[in-house]
Amino acid sequence: MQLPYIEPYKIKMVESIEQSTPEQRKKWIEDASYNLFKLNSNQVVIDLITDSGTGAMSDKQWAEIMLGDESYAGSSSFLKLEKTVKNITGFKYFIPTHQGRAAENVLFSALVKKGDFIPGNAHFDTTKGHIEYRKAATLDCTIKDAFDVETDHPFKGNIDLEKLEEILVNTPKGKIPFVLITITCNTVGGQPVSLENIRSVRSLCNQYKVNLFIDGARFAENAYFIKIREKEFVNHSIKEIVKEMFSLADGMTMSAKKDGIVNMGGFIALNNPDTHEVCSNFAIMYEGFVTYGGMSGRDMGALSQGLIEGTSFDYLQSRIRQVSYLGQRLDEFNVPVLKPFGGHAIYIDATKFVPNIPKEEYRAQALAIELYIIAGIRGVEIGTLLADRDPITRENRFPKLEMVRLAIPRRTYTLSQMEYVAVALKIIYETRNNAKSGYTIKWEAPIMRHFSVKLTKK
Ligand SMILES: Cc1ncc(COP(=O)(O)O)c(C=O)c1O
Repeated sequence: MQLPYIEPYKIKMVESIEQSTPEQRKKWIEDASYNLFKLNSNQVVIDLITDSGTGAMSDKQWAEIMLGDESYAGSSSFLKLEKTVKNITGFKYFIPTHQGRAAENVLFSALVKKGDFIPGNAHFDTTKGHIEYRKAATLDCTIKDAFDVETDHPFKGNIDLEKLEEILVNTPKGKIPFVLITITCNTVGGQPVSLENIRSVRSLCNQYKVNLFIDGARFAENAYFIKIREKEFVNHSIKEIVKEMFSLADGMTMSAKKDGIVNMGGFIALNNPDTHEVCSNFAIMYEGFVTYGGMSGRDMGALSQGLIEGTSFDYLQSRIRQVSYLGQRLDEFNVPVLKPFGGHAIYIDATKFVPNIPKEEYRAQALAIELYIIAGIRGVEIGTLLADRDPITRENRFPKLEMVRLAIPRRTYTLSQMEYVAVALKIIYETRNNAKSGYTIKWEAPIMRHFSVKLTKK
C-alpha cells in the first residue's frame, strides 16, 4: 500500500468563514443584480471566484513583509526580487508592475498599434481587452482539442501550428508585433502548453521574424505538467524546465498573484534593451518608478520568496493534486467536467449540465448562481458573458464552451472543503432538469462587461 500524499506545510493561522442560509443568499444575489462579483466576501462560504491573489503566504513570505525596504528608488526589496526573477526566468531586464494587466498595459503601450494582430492561444480577457482597446485584434490559434471537453489531450493549451503559420504567412509585414503564448491557458481550462509546442512556435517566429512573448501567470504549474507529461523532461527539475520555457521567448508578462503566491503584484521581464527602455517610460507613467512599479517594498520581498516556493516540486505536486481531487470527485458523481483537469481550476461544462437553459440566457452564469444559492460557493462564468460583444458588430460572441470555473486558491482550502464543493454540485446535478430559464442583461459596460453587468431573471 502506498502512503497518501500530504500537503508540504501545516497551518499556523486561520480565518473564520461566515455561514449563511440559502434564503439569505437568494436575497443577497438578487440585491447584487445576479452578478457574483458584486457579493461581499462575508456572503460567501467557499470562494472559488479566482485563484488570483487569494493564496496563503508562507511564514517566510510574512517575514519578508517585515523586512520590506520602502525606499522609492533602488530598495533592497526591489534588488532581491530582480535577482530572483532574473534567476528563475533567465530574462535580462525586469520591470515590476502592480499586477498582470498592468504589465500588459505597459508592454502593449510599447508594442501594440492600431490595426495590429496578436496571434496566440485563447488570450485571457484582460489581455484581449488591452489589445482591443488599442484597436488591434487577437487571433486565437488554440488547437481544436482544447474545445472538446472529453478528449484526453495532455497539452490542450497548445498552439495549432498550421493555423499560426497561415496567419504569419497571410498577415501584412509589420502587423504582428508578437505571438503570445499563455501558460497555462486559463481561458480553455488552465490547460498546459508543451515545451515541444513552445519550441515549434519559436521556430515559426524565427522563420517569420516575429517576437514571442509569454503570459506566464501560471508558468510554474505549466512546468509541473511538462515534467509529468512530457517524456523528455521527467528527470528535469521544475526550475530547469522553467528556464527552458522562457529561453524560447523574447519576454513575458506576469500576474504574480497566481504562481508568485502573493496577494498583489506583477512584472514584465524581457531581453531587448530598446523595448525595455520604452516599457520603462510607460511603467513610470502608469505604475510608478521602475524600482517599485506599483508594489510596496514588502510586497516585492514576499513575491521574491513566493516565486522560490512556487517553483518547488513538492508544493506544485500538492497544489495540482488538490485541484484534481475535486475534479475526480465530481467525475465520480457524473458531473460533466472539463478533462484533463486544469492546473488551477476545475471547469464545469454548463452546456451538458443545464442544456435546457438557452445559451442566449447565459446558462453558465445561471449554474454559477444556483451553486451560490444552494451552498454559498462562488465560482465564475467563463462563457457568453465573459466572451463579451464583438467590438465592431456589437453582437454577443458565443464561445465554443460554456463553463463555470471553480478556481482553487493556493494553500487556502482543505480537502474536506473540496468535498463540500463536490457534494454541493452533486445535489444540484440531481435536480438539473428543473432548470429551464436563465437571465437577461439589464445593464452592461462597453468592455469587460462581466465584472459589472446587471442581470434580471428571465
Ligand atoms: C492568464 C492571465 N493573464 C493575465 C491575467 C491578469 O492578471 P491580473 O489579474 O493580475 O491583472 C490573468 C488574471 O487572472 C490571467 O489568468
